[in-house]
Amino acid sequence: MDRPRVVVHAVASVDGRLTLAPDVLLLYGDERWQAVAGPSDEVYERLKLTYKPQVFLEGSGSFVPSDAEPEPLPPVDGDPQSLYQDFLPPDVVHRAGHQGWFTAVDSRGRVRWLYKEFEGWEGWHLLVLVAHHTPPEYLAYLQRRNIPYLVAGEERVDLRAALEKLGSQLGVTCVVSTAGGRLNGALLRAGLVDEISVEFFPAVIGGFETPSLFDSPALKPDQWPTRLKLICAQVQAEGRVRLRYEVVPEHVS
Ligand SMILES: NC(=O)c1ccc[n+]([C@@H]2O[C@H](COP(=O)([O-])OP(=O)(O)OC[C@H]3O[C@@H](n4cnc5c(N)ncnc54)[C@H](OP(=O)(O)O)[C@@H]3O)[C@@H](O)[C@H]2O)c1
Repeated sequence: MDRPRVVVHAVASVDGRLTLAPDVLLLYGDERWQAVAGPSDEVYERLKLTYKPQVFLEGSGSFVPSDAEPEPLPPVDGDPQSLYQDFLPPDVVHRAGHQGWFTAVDSRGRVRWLYKEFEGWEGWHLLVLVAHHTPPEYLAYLQRRNIPYLVAGEERVDLRAALEKLGSQLGVTCVVSTAGGRLNGALLRAGLVDEISVEFFPAVIGGFETPSLFDSPALKPDQWPTRLKLICAQVQAEGRVRLRYEVVPEHVS
């Protein structure tokens, strides 16, 4: 395989909802979610032990609501072309104690980062995936903050190309996506998901627009559902069920 292995992991209600309603961002905490889904602190430790990923992947939707107006950034002086090359500052890439990359897709340059490293995540550093249409002001902002980025794709991030770059430029062999439904849906439709791991908790959330496991364009008449092969099913405490499935490649009948 010429790209890293991709595992999608999510915590979902029995009806596959990833949050309580559109634009309820769990990152900022919600007592109703915590009450039904339980604490999330140990999830990442378990994922690190199981998959030994070098990348955890998120989408911008985990950090900013869809209608958020990002804080304006100063204009770029001079020719912005040089900004559209991968920015991998050696002092970050080769820093001591490197464990992995906390990586976010943000082709529209919407997220303003408060932190580059995170409490309890020693050795993990922020990395952003951008595209050729990402505003130059945002790339200049990332460079000023010494936040590494990879450029892949034109309008949006070309997810396959970005994964290939993670492999070729940073030696990444396993990515765990803990993103929301739209990024996971885009990965699925692009044929980039190798394993799906879901922890279902015993509640139903409903909603017409509430993010769910794989939010993506509907199947066309000539497209088939993604077939899965069970790896394991574990009944956990308090009625939770963890399911792990291998994605069956499309050409296998
Ligand atoms: N329960 C859980 O396990 C869990 C996990 C994560 C998040 N959540 C919740 O889920 C919600 C966020 O989910 P969401 O679906 O709104 O956001 P999301 O999954 O973050 O999806 C939006 C991101 O996907 C990218 N994207 C979408 N389609 C793409 C495509 N075709 N090609 C390339 N990139 C593409 C977007 O890129 P652009 O920047 O280019 O638009 C953006 O970065 C939040 O409420 C969050 O709290 C729950």
